[in-house]
Amino acid sequence: MNKYQSDFLERRRKRQAREIHAGIQPFKLVKYFSYTSLVVILVASFFLSLIISNNAKRVLLDRSESYSELFAENLSRQVFLRFVLPTAIQYGAIALSNETQFERLDLVVRNVTRGMGIDSVTIFDSNENIISYSTIPELVGKEDKGGIEYRKALLGESNSVLISSASLINLLPGARPVYCKLKTYIPFRSEEKLGERQGNIMGVIEVVNDLSDDMEAIIKLQGRIILLSLVIMGVLFGALSYIVFRADRIIEARADERRQLEVKLHETERLATLGKMVAAVSHEIKNPLGIVRSTAEILGKRISKVAPGNEHLANIIVDETSRLDNIVREFLDFARPKELQPEMVSLNTLVERAASFMQPEFENKSVEPVLDLDPQLPRIPLDPEQIYQVLLNVMINGVQAMPDGGTISLRSRVTLRGDVELDIGDTGTGMPPEKAEQIFTPFFTDKNRGSGLGLAIAKNIIDKHNGRITVVSNEGQGSTFTLTFSRSLG
Ligand SMILES: Nc1ncnc2c1ncn2[C@@H]1O[C@H](COP(=O)(O)OP(=O)(O)O)[C@@H](O)[C@H]1O
Ligand SMILES: [Mg+2]
Repeated sequence: MNKYQSDFLERRRKRQAREIHAGIQPFKLVKYFSYTSLVVILVASFFLSLIISNNAKRVLLDRSESYSELFAENLSRQVFLRFVLPTAIQYGAIALSNETQFERLDLVVRNVTRGMGIDSVTIFDSNENIISYSTIPELVGKEDKGGIEYRKALLGESNSVLISSASLINLLPGARPVYCKLKTYIPFRSEEKLGERQGNIMGVIEVVNDLSDDMEAIIKLQGRIILLSLVIMGVLFGALSYIVFRADRIIEARADERRQLEVKLHETERLATLGKMVAAVSHEIKNPLGIVRSTAEILGKRISKVAPGNEHLANIIVDETSRLDNIVREFLDFARPKELQPEMVSLNTLVERAASFMQPEFENKSVEPVLDLDPQLPRIPLDPEQIYQVLLNVMINGVQAMPDGGTISLRSRVTLRGDVELDIGDTGTGMPPEKAEQIFTPFFTDKNRGSGLGLAIAKNIIDKHNGRITVVSNEGQGSTFTLTFSRSLG
């Protein structure tokens, strides 16, 4: 591969990486989306609870206010009719400093307020800002207690004021309890007939309503709404996070898959380019090689006449050219794999054929073949020529791994799963695991005159058969290659 090609591949690799990255982008959005929706729900439910509880408060106050006013007016009428009129007739004048008069008034007020949930009733004088009567005895006689509300009521305007300390904080343990009081001020008028008002304002009546319990209930409701929405949000967030988490994992796995695929693609491409180059060069070499070889053969015959004893020189050329021819053929086999032409054959037959072809070589290298072939082996779809070549490649390696001779064992069997397996074992040098990992890589060789293609070709062929080729090797003890085929090509 030249610089231009590698630059090109590098650029493409970067582009693909960018595309992979872009593929992940939309799912990041999902993540943001889940967080944003969470915040939106949080804010929305907070405002919702605020609106609901504020509304409840408003309704409570409106209702209490009009109720209080009505009550105060009724009180004022009762006091006028049942206390002011009879007292004025009996004593000629009202003087609350008179204990009997005070008690009479107190009786009237207490009768009217009984069971009405009223905290206190206080009556202010109209002439000066002084408390003439109150259900709270300590307040009687106090001056300047009426504020702006008192003055408004003196002018004939009923009004009320809310004094409260009521928020979620009051619900916390140890905090001050909820406190909420509604003070209503109305003018205390004299009346001529029942229900008819006169402008004569004799004082101001202050009615205090305790709303603490109602308010506490509302605040508790608010707390419950917030708590509930928190729980719902928590569940929602959990669910969303889980989905996002799962999505993330899936995307990561996909990205990984894509990266691996990319690497594979890269490798395949590189090999394809390489293969084309090798094929072209090998093809160009093949013809001249043939000519060199036949010329050398002719030369050998002539030399024996001209210079007897020098024939071996020509033979060297012949030997080396045939070796070169083998290498070129391997290159071509590797670069231009043949189409698969499967037939139903017995692997045993192919093993026997290859072993008998190798017989002279075995004898030459003091290698003893041991065949242990399962006669029950079924016929399976194999390309006989190509598998024969695989067997030769593996056996030749075995012989080469035993320079001092040894045993080649050929053992076939049917596995429990019904696959057909063949072990090709030798008692040669063996190899360390890190080497065993590389031997199927094209051009990997540690031999002076090796092409490093024998096992690569074998693997290609086995792969095309949808089979497997594996190796188990022990350094100094030997190696065993195992070929596995299923009964069908699918
Ligand atoms: N039976 C074996 N015992 C030990 N090493 C082996 C055996 N078979 C293959 N190898 C190693 O694997 C390498 C690759 O083998 P191969 O692809 O046939 O190429 P080559 O035979 O041209 O070197 C060999 O160089 C050798 O180091
Ligand atoms: Mg080899």
